[in-house]
Amino acid sequence: MLSYRHAFHAGNFADVLKHSVLTLVLEYMTRKEKGFYYIDSHSGAGMYSLEDEYAQKTGEYKDGIAKLIDLQNIPDELSPYIELIKSLNSEKELNIYPGSPAIAKYFDRRQDSAHLFELHPTDIQHLSEFCHRWNKSHVSQSDGYQGVLGLLPPPNRRGVVLIDPPYELKEDYKKAVNTIIKAYKKFATGTYILWYPVVKRELVEKMQKQFIDSDVKNLLQVEYCQEADTEEYGMTGTGLFIVNPPWQLQSQLHKNLPYIKEQLGNNQSHYLISQLIDE
Ligand SMILES: C[S@@+](CC[C@H](N)C(=O)[O-])C[C@H]1O[C@@H](n2cnc3c(N)ncnc32)[C@H](O)[C@@H]1O
Repeated sequence: MLSYRHAFHAGNFADVLKHSVLTLVLEYMTRKEKGFYYIDSHSGAGMYSLEDEYAQKTGEYKDGIAKLIDLQNIPDELSPYIELIKSLNSEKELNIYPGSPAIAKYFDRRQDSAHLFELHPTDIQHLSEFCHRWNKSHVSQSDGYQGVLGLLPPPNRRGVVLIDPPYELKEDYKKAVNTIIKAYKKFATGTYILWYPVVKRELVEKMQKQFIDSDVKNLLQVEYCQEADTEEYGMTGTGLFIVNPPWQLQSQLHKNLPYIKEQLGNNQSHYLISQLIDE
């Protein structure tokens, strides 16, 4: 089943959380000279127009990035993400939004490489075009779960893996965590970021339990919910599990999450920052 298109959702509140964290993680990785692998199991199209019919149909970015982009009092910890988005747009208008591959490209140095998986026949075309002149990118129209495992450990033993499935299939919840558990056995020092939607709380709790029952250590969980939990309508919140986060990420999140809640949220909104498994 491949009906999910990220173009409908680009720049929404879930992207704000996911991409602001990805930005902080990649910025941290580039502080050391030694190169690293960036592996994106579910890459999407690479870059999105907020003017096209998809983004305009849902208007989700209007409740996400559009509410933040022009603010003057952005916390220092959220600025790298906002500056990245600004660098792609003119001063006057917000019309482009980066997908995770575009965020990785922004940080790319000649010693790094990006390994991008995508299955959708249209999005793989967009992604390939986006990566056309990016020498150190490798795009593959194949299953990202298997792709991640095939690349680990990276030759220089430094890597960031983003696992960002569409969760069209309920099995994605279990499979995504299992992939990290298997990947961790091959490469325990890598940084892994797993995105999830809050649709049914029970499914998130099962993911937490799967991690707790595994050998994975040093796991941070961050969650931002726009609304109180309910199963009556779709995604009410979003979260990330981060294995081996940069040491200062937790304190950066303590600055960013209250701000995101204040700017995007309402009186039902809430967040969580929790070291689920210690080092
Ligand atoms: C949530 S989107 C990715 C968004 C992207 N990571 C970003 O942050 O900009 C999920 C993508 O996974 C693709 N996909 C679904 N199943 C896949 C699989 N098994 N392997 C690789 N890609 C897959 C979908 O076509 C979709 O484009």
